[in-house]
Amino acid sequence: MKTITEFGKMKEKGKKISVVTCYDYWAAKIINNSDIDALLVGDSAAMVVHGFENTINAEIDMMCYHVAAVKRGANNKLIIADLPFLEQRKGAESFYRSIDRLMKCGAQGVKIEGASGNLSIIRELVQSGIPVMGHLGLTPQSVHQLGGFKLQGIDAESSDNIFNDALQLQDAGCFALVLEMIPSTLAKRITNELQIPVIGIGAGQWTDGQVLVFHDLLGLNKDFCPKFARKYLNGSELILESLNKFNNDVKELDFPSKEESN
Ligand code: KIV
Repeated sequence: MKTITEFGKMKEKGKKISVVTCYDYWAAKIINNSDIDALLVGDSAAMVVHGFENTINAEIDMMCYHVAAVKRGANNKLIIADLPFLEQRKGAESFYRSIDRLMKCGAQGVKIEGASGNLSIIRELVQSGIPVMGHLGLTPQSVHQLGGFKLQGIDAESSDNIFNDALQLQDAGCFALVLEMIPSTLAKRITNELQIPVIGIGAGQWTDGQVLVFHDLLGLNKDFCPKFARKYLNGSELILESLNKFNNDVKELDFPSKEESN
């Protein structure tokens, strides 16, 4: 299993890091046998698994349920879990209970969106021995504040804000940083400046690694095709084809065959 220390070494050696989101046991089992470096149990679970419009509906119970299932399937991979919407604003006791639960379910680190208002919390978590991954750029939990899921850091001021936030997150002790939906030139500037690994999604080719949502990578949602999410499989078409084939075989009395019967 790659540890967060190895993540740092991969950056030093110029080796790219691959991360994929994962939410359940069967997918975790497959990814566990792959060369992927780490798993992110993202709060994108709320969207891709539960069908919500955004990640605001992810709750700590939901996250724990997914982390535990992923851990049962992927004992051999580093598992990072997203801290759901507002968790760090619900008071210290509730916050630490949530982190405790995520870690006991199998997460080896947590990801927190945004820098502003989170720096002292991140410092405290790191001092408590909890690896923290930062997340800047398009931070989906702030979708309403940002006015939609769109490219961030376009003008000079917002670009500088993201750059400065990245430095502060490193200073607070984050072991890695996710940059989502920002211009590749800004991602390059941040990647070159930081010592910690920078993992991009929709942030171009110069980051230290890439993360993709499992369902996007496998083409499981044919209605969602952003240009940054390369499809490695036409999953939804293949599944639909198989389901219709099964339906047809049942109706044409072709399934089950004699060999498939007891
Ligand atoms: O929740 C998620 O899946 C994420 C990735 C897109 C980075 O935060």
